[in-house]
Amino acid sequence: MAGGPMAAGGGVGANAPKSKLSAILMVSFAAFAGILYGYDTGTISGVTAMQDWLALFGHQVPVSTDHPYGLAISSSRQSLVTSILSAGTFCGSLTGAPVADWVGRQRGVFVAIVIFCFGVAMQTGCHTFALFVVGRVIAGFGVGLVSTLIPMYLSECSPKWIRGAVVTGYQWAITIGILLANVINNATQHRQDHSAWRIPTAVQLIWAFILAVGMLFLPESPRFWIKAGREDKAAKSLARLTNSDVSDPEVQLELEDIKAALKEEQELGETGYLDCFKRTPNKILFRTLTGIGLQAWQQLTGVNFIFYYGTSFFQSAGINNPFLASVATGIVNVFMTIPGMYGVEHYGRRNLLIWGAAWMCFCEFLVGIVGVTISVDNTAGHKALIALICLYIAGFASTWGPIAWVVIGEIFPLAIRAKAMSLSVASNWLWNFALSFATPYLVNPGPGNANLGVKVFFLWGSTCFCCTVFAFFCIPETKGLSLEQVDLLYLNSSVLGSSKYREELLAQDVHIADVAKHTDDRASEEKV
Ligand code: BGC
Repeated sequence: MAGGPMAAGGGVGANAPKSKLSAILMVSFAAFAGILYGYDTGTISGVTAMQDWLALFGHQVPVSTDHPYGLAISSSRQSLVTSILSAGTFCGSLTGAPVADWVGRQRGVFVAIVIFCFGVAMQTGCHTFALFVVGRVIAGFGVGLVSTLIPMYLSECSPKWIRGAVVTGYQWAITIGILLANVINNATQHRQDHSAWRIPTAVQLIWAFILAVGMLFLPESPRFWIKAGREDKAAKSLARLTNSDVSDPEVQLELEDIKAALKEEQELGETGYLDCFKRTPNKILFRTLTGIGLQAWQQLTGVNFIFYYGTSFFQSAGINNPFLASVATGIVNVFMTIPGMYGVEHYGRRNLLIWGAAWMCFCEFLVGIVGVTISVDNTAGHKALIALICLYIAGFASTWGPIAWVVIGEIFPLAIRAKAMSLSVASNWLWNFALSFATPYLVNPGPGNANLGVKVFFLWGSTCFCCTVFAFFCIPETKGLSLEQVDLLYLNSSVLGSSKYREELLAQDVHIADVAKHTDDRASEEKV
Protein backbone atom coordinates (compact mmCIF):
# COMPACT_ATOMS: atom_id res chain seq x y z
CA MET A 1 0.00 0.00 0.00
CA ALA A 2 1.28 3.39 -0.87
CA GLY A 3 1.77 5.73 1.99
CA GLY A 4 2.77 4.73 5.43
CA PRO A 5 2.92 5.96 8.95
CA MET A 6 3.95 9.38 7.75
CA ALA A 7 1.02 9.42 5.43
CA ALA A 8 -1.32 8.59 8.25
CA GLY A 9 0.05 11.39 10.33
CA GLY A 10 0.69 13.33 7.22
CA GLY A 11 2.66 15.81 9.22
CA VAL A 12 4.32 16.63 12.43
CA GLY A 13 3.21 15.69 15.94
CA ALA A 14 0.25 13.76 14.62
CA ASN A 15 -0.69 12.51 18.05
CA ALA A 16 -2.38 14.61 20.71
CA PRO A 17 -2.99 18.29 20.08
CA LYS A 18 -0.97 19.18 23.25
CA SER A 19 -0.27 22.81 23.87
CA LYS A 20 1.83 23.50 20.78
CA LEU A 21 0.19 26.76 19.79
CA SER A 22 3.41 28.67 19.24
CA ALA A 23 4.84 25.93 17.00
CA ILE A 24 1.59 25.78 14.98
CA LEU A 25 1.55 29.56 14.61
CA MET A 26 5.14 29.41 13.46
CA VAL A 27 4.29 26.92 10.67
CA SER A 28 1.13 28.83 9.77
CA PHE A 29 3.25 31.87 9.00
CA ALA A 30 4.26 30.11 5.75
CA ALA A 31 0.63 30.50 4.62
CA PHE A 32 1.49 34.22 4.32
CA ALA A 33 2.92 33.28 0.91
CA GLY A 34 -0.71 33.21 -0.29
CA ILE A 35 -0.54 37.04 -0.16
CA LEU A 36 2.00 37.04 -3.00
CA TYR A 37 -0.29 34.83 -5.07
CA GLY A 38 -3.47 36.78 -4.31
CA TYR A 39 -1.94 40.25 -4.68
CA ASP A 40 -0.49 39.38 -8.07
CA THR A 41 -3.87 38.03 -9.17
CA GLY A 42 -5.76 41.07 -7.88
CA THR A 43 -3.54 43.95 -8.88
CA ILE A 44 -3.67 43.70 -12.68
CA SER A 45 -7.43 44.32 -12.91
CA GLY A 46 -7.06 47.82 -11.43
CA VAL A 47 -3.68 48.67 -12.97
CA THR A 48 -4.91 48.08 -16.53
CA ALA A 49 -7.86 50.42 -15.92
CA MET A 50 -5.67 53.34 -14.69
CA GLN A 51 -5.37 56.47 -16.78
CA ASP A 52 -1.57 56.75 -16.61
CA TRP A 53 -1.02 53.08 -17.44
CA LEU A 54 -3.44 53.34 -20.39
CA ALA A 55 -1.73 56.52 -21.59
CA LEU A 56 1.62 54.72 -21.57
CA PHE A 57 0.63 51.34 -23.01
CA GLY A 58 -2.77 51.91 -24.67
CA HIS A 59 -4.18 54.11 -27.46
CA GLN A 60 -6.68 56.96 -27.81
CA VAL A 61 -10.41 56.35 -28.40
CA PRO A 62 -13.51 58.57 -28.14
CA VAL A 63 -14.62 59.17 -24.53
CA SER A 64 -17.50 56.82 -23.55
CA THR A 65 -18.84 54.89 -20.53
CA ASP A 66 -16.44 52.08 -21.41
CA HIS A 67 -13.53 54.48 -21.85
CA PRO A 68 -13.96 57.43 -19.45
CA TYR A 69 -10.41 58.72 -20.08
CA GLY A 70 -10.65 58.42 -23.87
CA LEU A 71 -7.96 55.75 -23.64
CA ALA A 72 -8.15 52.01 -24.26
CA ILE A 73 -6.00 48.95 -24.58
CA SER A 74 -6.57 46.42 -27.36
CA SER A 75 -8.07 43.01 -26.44
CA SER A 76 -4.85 41.31 -27.50
CA ARG A 77 -2.69 43.49 -25.20
CA GLN A 78 -5.18 43.20 -22.34
CA SER A 79 -5.36 39.43 -22.58
CA LEU A 80 -1.58 39.11 -22.97
CA VAL A 81 -0.67 41.26 -19.98
CA THR A 82 -3.25 39.57 -17.74
CA SER A 83 -2.79 35.96 -18.74
CA ILE A 84 0.99 35.95 -19.12
CA LEU A 85 1.36 35.77 -15.34
CA SER A 86 -0.30 32.35 -15.42
CA ALA A 87 2.06 31.15 -18.16
CA GLY A 88 4.95 31.88 -15.76
CA THR A 89 3.10 30.36 -12.80
CA PHE A 90 2.32 27.21 -14.81
CA CYS A 91 6.05 26.61 -15.45
CA GLY A 92 6.92 27.61 -11.87
CA SER A 93 4.41 25.19 -10.33
CA LEU A 94 5.80 22.27 -12.36
CA THR A 95 9.35 23.24 -11.39
CA GLY A 96 8.21 23.25 -7.74
CA ALA A 97 8.45 19.45 -7.31
CA PRO A 98 12.14 19.10 -8.34
CA VAL A 99 13.13 22.32 -6.52
CA ALA A 100 11.48 20.98 -3.34
CA ASP A 101 13.56 17.81 -3.57
CA TRP A 102 16.87 19.44 -4.60
CA VAL A 103 17.14 22.52 -2.40
CA GLY A 104 14.37 21.86 0.10
CA ARG A 105 10.89 23.22 0.70
CA GLN A 106 11.85 26.18 2.87
CA ARG A 107 14.99 27.09 0.91
CA GLY A 108 13.04 26.64 -2.33
CA VAL A 109 10.80 29.49 -1.14
CA PHE A 110 13.87 31.79 -1.04
CA VAL A 111 14.67 30.87 -4.64
CA ALA A 112 11.07 31.74 -5.52
CA ILE A 113 11.26 35.07 -3.69
CA VAL A 114 14.43 36.15 -5.52
CA ILE A 115 12.88 35.34 -8.91
CA PHE A 116 9.63 37.05 -7.92
CA CYS A 117 11.37 40.26 -6.79
CA PHE A 118 13.34 40.42 -10.02
CA GLY A 119 10.09 40.21 -12.02
CA VAL A 120 8.36 42.84 -9.86
CA ALA A 121 11.32 45.24 -10.10
CA MET A 122 11.22 44.89 -13.86
CA GLN A 123 7.50 45.75 -14.01
CA THR A 124 7.92 48.69 -11.65
CA GLY A 125 10.77 50.34 -13.50
CA CYS A 126 9.72 49.60 -17.08
CA HIS A 127 8.71 52.07 -19.79
CA THR A 128 7.75 49.59 -22.47
CA PHE A 129 4.86 47.18 -22.71
CA ALA A 130 7.23 44.32 -23.61
CA LEU A 131 9.27 44.76 -20.40
CA PHE A 132 6.11 44.93 -18.31
CA VAL A 133 4.95 41.63 -19.86
CA VAL A 134 8.36 39.94 -19.36
CA GLY A 135 8.39 41.16 -15.74
CA ARG A 136 4.99 39.54 -15.21
CA VAL A 137 6.20 36.19 -16.61
CA ILE A 138 9.23 36.21 -14.29
CA ALA A 139 7.22 37.24 -11.23
CA GLY A 140 4.66 34.60 -12.22
CA PHE A 141 7.36 31.94 -12.25
CA GLY A 142 8.14 32.82 -8.63
CA VAL A 143 4.46 32.71 -7.65
CA GLY A 144 4.09 29.31 -9.36
CA LEU A 145 7.03 27.90 -7.38
CA VAL A 146 5.51 29.20 -4.17
CA SER A 147 2.11 27.71 -5.03
CA THR A 148 3.56 24.19 -5.12
CA LEU A 149 6.16 24.59 -2.34
CA ILE A 150 4.00 26.21 0.31
CA PRO A 151 1.05 23.76 0.43
CA MET A 152 3.68 20.96 0.46
CA TYR A 153 5.61 22.62 3.31
CA LEU A 154 2.43 23.32 5.27
CA SER A 155 1.13 19.78 5.02
CA GLU A 156 4.50 18.24 5.88
CA CYS A 157 5.10 20.49 8.87
CA SER A 158 1.68 20.91 10.47
CA PRO A 159 0.03 18.39 12.79
CA LYS A 160 -2.61 16.11 11.28
CA TRP A 161 -5.45 17.36 13.47
CA ILE A 162 -5.10 20.91 12.20
CA ARG A 163 -3.66 20.32 8.72
CA GLY A 164 -6.93 21.15 6.90
CA ALA A 165 -7.27 24.49 8.69
CA VAL A 166 -3.63 25.39 8.05
CA VAL A 167 -4.06 24.68 4.31
CA THR A 168 -7.27 26.75 4.15
CA GLY A 169 -5.19 29.47 5.86
CA TYR A 170 -3.17 29.58 2.65
CA GLN A 171 -6.35 30.23 0.62
CA TRP A 172 -7.34 32.88 3.16
CA ALA A 173 -4.02 34.62 2.58
CA ILE A 174 -4.71 34.49 -1.19
CA THR A 175 -8.03 36.27 -0.66
CA ILE A 176 -6.41 38.87 1.64
CA GLY A 177 -3.78 39.45 -1.07
CA ILE A 178 -6.50 40.10 -3.65
CA LEU A 179 -8.26 42.53 -1.29
CA LEU A 180 -5.03 44.38 -0.48
CA ALA A 181 -4.45 44.78 -4.21
CA ASN A 182 -7.96 46.19 -4.68
CA VAL A 183 -7.57 48.61 -1.77
CA ILE A 184 -4.14 49.86 -2.88
CA ASN A 185 -5.28 50.24 -6.50
CA ASN A 186 -8.26 52.20 -5.24
CA ALA A 187 -5.99 54.49 -3.22
CA THR A 188 -3.59 55.30 -6.07
CA GLN A 189 -5.91 55.25 -9.09
CA HIS A 190 -6.32 59.05 -9.31
CA ARG A 191 -2.62 59.89 -9.23
CA GLN A 192 -1.69 61.70 -12.40
CA ASP A 193 1.76 60.20 -12.91
CA HIS A 194 3.39 56.76 -13.16
CA SER A 195 3.17 56.36 -9.38
CA ALA A 196 -0.54 55.46 -9.89
CA TRP A 197 0.44 51.96 -11.05
CA ARG A 198 4.07 51.83 -9.89
CA ILE A 199 3.11 52.03 -6.21
CA PRO A 200 0.67 49.06 -6.31
CA THR A 201 3.20 47.10 -8.38
CA ALA A 202 6.17 47.85 -6.13
CA VAL A 203 4.23 47.10 -2.94
CA GLN A 204 4.66 43.42 -3.81
CA LEU A 205 8.30 43.76 -2.77
CA ILE A 206 7.13 44.46 0.78
CA TRP A 207 5.15 41.17 0.90
CA ALA A 208 8.17 39.31 -0.48
CA PHE A 209 10.41 40.91 2.16
CA ILE A 210 8.06 39.97 5.01
CA LEU A 211 7.82 36.40 3.72
CA ALA A 212 11.60 36.11 3.35
CA VAL A 213 12.28 37.40 6.87
CA GLY A 214 9.61 35.12 8.35
CA MET A 215 10.82 32.06 6.46
CA LEU A 216 14.33 32.62 7.86
CA PHE A 217 12.97 31.67 11.27
CA LEU A 218 11.13 28.56 10.08
CA PRO A 219 12.85 25.19 10.04
CA GLU A 220 13.24 23.17 6.85
CA SER A 221 10.75 20.31 6.53
CA PRO A 222 12.04 17.34 8.53
CA ARG A 223 10.90 15.10 5.69
CA PHE A 224 13.28 16.85 3.31
CA TRP A 225 16.21 16.30 5.72
CA ILE A 226 15.41 12.61 6.10
CA LYS A 227 15.30 12.25 2.34
CA ALA A 228 18.63 14.11 2.12
CA GLY A 229 20.08 11.61 4.65
CA ARG A 230 20.48 14.27 7.42
CA GLU A 231 18.76 12.63 10.37
CA ASP A 232 20.43 15.04 12.82
CA LYS A 233 18.95 18.06 11.06
CA ALA A 234 15.57 16.33 10.73
CA ALA A 235 15.52 15.75 14.50
CA LYS A 236 16.32 19.42 15.16
CA SER A 237 13.55 20.55 12.78
CA LEU A 238 11.05 18.23 14.37
CA ALA A 239 12.00 19.38 17.84
CA ARG A 240 11.36 22.99 16.82
CA LEU A 241 8.11 22.15 15.07
CA THR A 242 6.78 20.29 18.11
CA ASN A 243 8.23 22.74 20.60
CA SER A 244 10.13 19.99 22.32
CA ASP A 245 13.62 18.56 22.74
CA VAL A 246 15.51 16.39 20.24
CA SER A 247 15.50 13.54 22.77
CA ASP A 248 11.72 13.79 23.36
CA PRO A 249 10.12 10.36 22.71
CA GLU A 250 7.48 12.01 20.54
CA VAL A 251 10.19 13.47 18.29
CA GLN A 252 11.95 10.11 18.09
CA LEU A 253 8.68 8.33 17.25
CA GLU A 254 7.88 10.80 14.53
CA LEU A 255 11.38 10.44 13.08
CA GLU A 256 10.91 6.69 12.95
CA ASP A 257 7.57 7.20 11.20
CA ILE A 258 9.09 9.44 8.55
CA LYS A 259 11.97 7.03 8.01
CA ALA A 260 9.56 4.09 7.72
CA ALA A 261 7.43 5.98 5.22
CA LEU A 262 10.47 6.89 3.20
CA LYS A 263 11.67 3.26 3.24
CA GLU A 264 8.25 2.12 2.05
CA GLU A 265 8.36 4.76 -0.67
CA GLN A 266 11.84 3.68 -1.73
CA GLU A 267 10.80 0.02 -1.79
CA LEU A 268 8.17 0.97 -4.34
CA GLY A 269 11.03 2.25 -6.48
CA GLU A 270 11.71 5.79 -7.71
CA THR A 271 8.43 7.20 -8.97
CA GLY A 272 8.15 9.33 -12.08
CA TYR A 273 5.31 11.45 -13.45
CA LEU A 274 4.05 8.45 -15.45
CA ASP A 275 3.32 6.61 -12.20
CA CYS A 276 0.62 9.18 -11.50
CA PHE A 277 -1.31 7.76 -14.46
CA LYS A 278 -1.17 4.07 -13.55
CA ARG A 279 -4.30 1.97 -13.25
CA THR A 280 -4.03 0.40 -9.78
CA PRO A 281 -6.52 -1.15 -7.33
CA ASN A 282 -6.36 2.03 -5.24
CA LYS A 283 -7.33 4.07 -8.34
CA ILE A 284 -4.17 6.17 -8.79
CA LEU A 285 -5.16 7.23 -12.32
CA PHE A 286 -8.63 8.30 -11.19
CA ARG A 287 -7.17 10.22 -8.24
CA THR A 288 -4.64 12.08 -10.39
CA LEU A 289 -7.35 12.96 -12.90
CA THR A 290 -9.60 14.06 -10.03
CA GLY A 291 -6.91 16.47 -8.73
CA ILE A 292 -6.20 17.84 -12.20
CA GLY A 293 -9.94 18.07 -12.96
CA LEU A 294 -10.83 19.70 -9.64
CA GLN A 295 -8.31 22.50 -10.12
CA ALA A 296 -9.44 22.98 -13.74
CA TRP A 297 -13.10 23.21 -12.71
CA GLN A 298 -12.17 25.59 -9.90
CA GLN A 299 -10.92 27.98 -12.57
CA LEU A 300 -13.91 27.24 -14.80
CA THR A 301 -16.25 28.58 -12.09
CA GLY A 302 -15.26 31.90 -13.71
CA VAL A 303 -14.08 33.44 -10.44
CA ASN A 304 -11.04 35.13 -11.96
CA PHE A 305 -13.24 36.93 -14.44
CA ILE A 306 -14.14 39.08 -11.44
CA PHE A 307 -10.62 39.29 -9.98
CA TYR A 308 -8.81 39.90 -13.28
CA TYR A 309 -11.35 41.86 -15.27
CA GLY A 310 -13.79 43.01 -12.58
CA THR A 311 -12.85 46.69 -12.67
CA SER A 312 -13.15 46.99 -16.47
CA PHE A 313 -16.35 44.91 -16.41
CA PHE A 314 -18.00 47.12 -13.77
CA GLN A 315 -16.84 50.17 -15.72
CA SER A 316 -18.39 48.97 -18.99
CA ALA A 317 -21.61 48.00 -17.17
CA GLY A 318 -21.89 51.72 -16.31
CA ILE A 319 -21.30 51.24 -12.57
CA ASN A 320 -20.32 54.55 -10.95
CA ASN A 321 -17.29 53.52 -8.95
CA PRO A 322 -15.88 50.35 -10.51
CA PHE A 323 -12.85 50.36 -8.18
CA LEU A 324 -15.12 50.34 -5.12
CA ALA A 325 -17.20 47.52 -6.60
CA SER A 326 -13.97 45.51 -6.94
CA VAL A 327 -13.07 46.26 -3.32
CA ALA A 328 -16.55 44.97 -2.33
CA THR A 329 -15.97 41.64 -4.11
CA GLY A 330 -12.53 41.41 -2.44
CA ILE A 331 -14.03 41.96 1.02
CA VAL A 332 -16.71 39.32 0.46
CA ASN A 333 -14.01 36.92 -0.75
CA VAL A 334 -11.93 37.39 2.42
CA PHE A 335 -14.74 37.17 4.94
CA MET A 336 -16.64 34.31 3.32
CA THR A 337 -13.50 32.13 3.36
CA ILE A 338 -13.86 31.98 7.17
CA PRO A 339 -17.14 29.96 7.13
CA GLY A 340 -15.44 27.77 4.51
CA MET A 341 -12.66 26.97 6.99
CA TYR A 342 -15.28 25.91 9.49
CA GLY A 343 -17.57 24.19 6.98
CA VAL A 344 -14.90 21.96 5.49
CA GLU A 345 -14.59 20.04 8.78
CA HIS A 346 -18.31 20.16 9.63
CA TYR A 347 -20.25 19.62 6.40
CA GLY A 348 -17.56 17.76 4.46
CA ARG A 349 -15.67 18.37 1.24
CA ARG A 350 -18.08 16.57 -1.08
CA ASN A 351 -21.27 18.26 0.18
CA LEU A 352 -19.78 21.74 0.09
CA LEU A 353 -18.36 21.31 -3.40
CA ILE A 354 -21.70 20.06 -4.77
CA TRP A 355 -23.83 22.72 -3.08
CA GLY A 356 -21.28 25.49 -3.65
CA ALA A 357 -21.26 24.85 -7.40
CA ALA A 358 -25.06 24.69 -7.51
CA TRP A 359 -25.28 28.04 -5.68
CA MET A 360 -22.73 29.70 -7.98
CA CYS A 361 -24.60 28.34 -11.02
CA PHE A 362 -27.84 29.89 -9.72
CA CYS A 363 -26.24 33.29 -9.00
CA GLU A 364 -24.42 33.46 -12.33
CA PHE A 365 -27.55 32.76 -14.37
CA LEU A 366 -29.30 35.51 -12.38
CA VAL A 367 -26.41 37.95 -13.08
CA GLY A 368 -26.76 37.12 -16.79
CA ILE A 369 -30.53 37.63 -16.75
CA VAL A 370 -30.38 40.92 -14.77
CA GLY A 371 -27.45 42.14 -16.89
CA VAL A 372 -29.20 41.67 -20.24
CA THR A 373 -32.47 43.10 -18.93
CA ILE A 374 -31.34 46.42 -17.39
CA SER A 375 -30.09 49.51 -19.21
CA VAL A 376 -26.65 51.07 -18.56
CA ASP A 377 -28.13 53.94 -16.56
CA ASN A 378 -30.35 51.85 -14.29
CA THR A 379 -28.74 52.47 -10.87
CA ALA A 380 -31.01 50.05 -8.99
CA GLY A 381 -30.16 47.40 -11.57
CA HIS A 382 -26.44 48.06 -11.04
CA LYS A 383 -26.82 47.55 -7.31
CA ALA A 384 -28.64 44.27 -7.93
CA LEU A 385 -25.87 43.20 -10.29
CA ILE A 386 -23.13 43.94 -7.73
CA ALA A 387 -25.13 42.21 -4.97
CA LEU A 388 -25.58 39.08 -7.10
CA ILE A 389 -21.90 39.02 -8.02
CA CYS A 390 -21.04 39.32 -4.31
CA LEU A 391 -23.37 36.39 -3.52
CA TYR A 392 -21.64 34.37 -6.21
CA ILE A 393 -18.18 35.24 -4.81
CA ALA A 394 -19.46 34.30 -1.33
CA GLY A 395 -20.37 30.86 -2.71
CA PHE A 396 -16.90 30.44 -4.21
CA ALA A 397 -15.03 31.69 -1.14
CA SER A 398 -16.81 29.35 1.26
CA THR A 399 -16.56 26.22 -0.90
CA TRP A 400 -14.51 25.82 -4.09
CA GLY A 401 -11.85 28.39 -3.13
CA PRO A 402 -10.41 26.66 -0.06
CA ILE A 403 -11.68 23.11 -0.62
CA ALA A 404 -9.96 22.60 -3.98
CA TRP A 405 -6.62 23.07 -2.14
CA VAL A 406 -7.64 20.89 0.80
CA VAL A 407 -8.74 18.02 -1.48
CA ILE A 408 -5.56 17.95 -3.59
CA GLY A 409 -3.61 17.84 -0.33
CA GLU A 410 -5.30 14.67 0.82
CA ILE A 411 -6.36 12.43 -2.07
CA PHE A 412 -2.88 11.32 -3.22
CA PRO A 413 -0.86 8.50 -1.70
CA LEU A 414 2.55 9.51 -0.41
CA ALA A 415 4.53 7.81 -3.18
CA ILE A 416 3.19 10.13 -5.89
CA ARG A 417 2.04 13.03 -3.70
CA ALA A 418 4.53 15.76 -4.70
CA LYS A 419 4.23 14.99 -8.40
CA ALA A 420 0.45 14.62 -8.47
CA MET A 421 0.09 17.81 -6.42
CA SER A 422 2.32 19.76 -8.78
CA LEU A 423 0.33 18.43 -11.77
CA SER A 424 -2.91 19.56 -10.11
CA VAL A 425 -1.49 23.02 -9.29
CA ALA A 426 -0.18 23.29 -12.86
CA SER A 427 -3.69 22.46 -14.12
CA ASN A 428 -5.03 25.35 -12.02
CA TRP A 429 -2.54 27.73 -13.67
CA LEU A 430 -3.05 26.32 -17.15
CA TRP A 431 -6.78 26.98 -16.97
CA ASN A 432 -6.15 30.27 -15.25
CA PHE A 433 -4.00 31.22 -18.24
CA ALA A 434 -6.42 29.91 -20.87
CA LEU A 435 -9.42 31.67 -19.36
CA SER A 436 -7.72 34.97 -18.65
CA PHE A 437 -6.33 34.95 -22.18
CA ALA A 438 -9.67 34.16 -23.82
CA THR A 439 -11.86 36.46 -21.68
CA PRO A 440 -11.24 39.83 -23.40
CA TYR A 441 -11.94 38.19 -26.77
CA LEU A 442 -15.15 36.71 -25.39
CA VAL A 443 -16.38 39.82 -23.60
CA ASN A 444 -15.18 42.93 -25.44
CA PRO A 445 -16.90 44.54 -28.43
CA GLY A 446 -15.03 45.14 -31.66
CA PRO A 447 -13.93 43.16 -34.69
CA GLY A 448 -12.77 39.61 -33.99
CA ASN A 449 -14.35 39.62 -30.51
CA ALA A 450 -17.46 37.69 -29.43
CA ASN A 451 -18.84 40.80 -27.64
CA LEU A 452 -20.61 38.69 -25.00
CA GLY A 453 -20.46 41.44 -22.35
CA VAL A 454 -22.56 40.46 -19.35
CA LYS A 455 -23.84 37.43 -21.26
CA VAL A 456 -20.53 35.75 -20.36
CA PHE A 457 -22.26 34.90 -17.05
CA PHE A 458 -24.46 32.39 -18.88
CA LEU A 459 -21.23 30.65 -19.86
CA TRP A 460 -19.94 30.65 -16.25
CA GLY A 461 -23.36 29.48 -15.05
CA SER A 462 -23.13 26.49 -17.42
CA THR A 463 -19.57 25.64 -16.34
CA CYS A 464 -20.70 25.80 -12.69
CA PHE A 465 -23.44 23.31 -13.55
CA CYS A 466 -20.66 21.01 -14.86
CA CYS A 467 -18.75 21.61 -11.59
CA THR A 468 -21.76 20.24 -9.67
CA VAL A 469 -21.80 17.12 -11.85
CA PHE A 470 -18.01 16.72 -11.50
CA ALA A 471 -18.14 17.00 -7.71
CA PHE A 472 -21.06 14.57 -7.53
CA PHE A 473 -19.31 11.84 -9.53
CA CYS A 474 -15.64 12.41 -8.67
CA ILE A 475 -15.20 13.76 -5.13
CA PRO A 476 -15.49 11.22 -2.30
CA GLU A 477 -16.15 12.33 1.27
CA THR A 478 -12.83 12.32 3.13
CA LYS A 479 -13.67 14.49 6.15
CA GLY A 480 -11.98 13.35 9.36
CA LEU A 481 -10.03 10.50 7.72
CA SER A 482 -6.28 10.08 7.96
CA LEU A 483 -4.49 10.02 4.60
CA GLU A 484 -4.05 6.26 5.02
CA GLN A 485 -7.78 5.84 5.49
CA VAL A 486 -8.36 7.94 2.36
CA ASP A 487 -6.24 5.40 0.50
CA LEU A 488 -8.37 2.60 1.92
CA LEU A 489 -11.49 4.45 0.90
CA TYR A 490 -10.33 4.63 -2.72
CA LEU A 491 -9.39 0.96 -2.58
CA ASN A 492 -12.65 -0.37 -1.18
CA SER A 493 -15.36 2.07 -2.07
CA SER A 494 -16.83 4.02 -4.97
CA VAL A 495 -17.22 7.81 -4.89
CA LEU A 496 -20.98 7.51 -4.49
CA GLY A 497 -20.61 4.98 -1.68
CA SER A 498 -17.84 6.98 0.01
CA SER A 499 -19.94 8.72 2.67
CA LYS A 500 -21.25 5.38 3.98
CA TYR A 501 -17.85 3.68 3.82
CA ARG A 502 -16.21 6.64 5.55
CA GLU A 503 -18.64 6.29 8.45
CA GLU A 504 -17.76 2.61 8.61
CA LEU A 505 -14.05 3.44 8.76
CA LEU A 506 -14.56 6.02 11.47
CA ALA A 507 -16.94 3.82 13.48
CA GLN A 508 -14.51 0.90 13.40
CA ASP A 509 -11.59 3.28 13.94
CA VAL A 510 -9.47 1.47 11.35
CA HIS A 511 -5.76 2.20 11.75
CA ILE A 512 -2.73 1.64 9.54
CA ALA A 513 -1.87 -1.70 11.10
CA ASP A 514 -5.43 -2.94 10.48
CA VAL A 515 -5.51 -1.78 6.88
CA ALA A 516 -4.59 -5.11 5.24
CA LYS A 517 -6.86 -7.03 7.61
CA HIS A 518 -9.79 -4.70 7.03
CA THR A 519 -9.40 -5.00 3.26
CA ASP A 520 -9.21 -8.81 3.48
CA ASP A 521 -12.26 -9.00 5.80
CA ARG A 522 -14.25 -6.84 3.40
CA ALA A 523 -13.19 -8.94 0.42
CA SER A 524 -14.32 -12.15 2.16
CA GLU A 525 -17.60 -10.49 3.30
CA GLU A 526 -18.25 -9.53 -0.32
CA LYS A 527 -17.57 -13.15 -1.47
CA VAL A 528 -20.07 -14.52 1.07
C1 BGC B 1 -7.88 30.34 -7.01
C2 BGC B 1 -7.45 31.62 -7.65
C3 BGC B 1 -8.44 32.70 -7.30
C4 BGC B 1 -8.60 32.79 -5.80
C5 BGC B 1 -9.72 33.72 -5.42
C6 BGC B 1 -7.92 30.53 -5.52
O1 BGC B 1 -8.26 29.35 -4.87
O2 BGC B 1 -6.99 29.28 -7.35
O3 BGC B 1 -7.34 31.46 -9.04
O4 BGC B 1 -8.03 33.93 -7.80
O5 BGC B 1 -8.88 31.52 -5.23
O6 BGC B 1 -9.85 33.79 -4.04
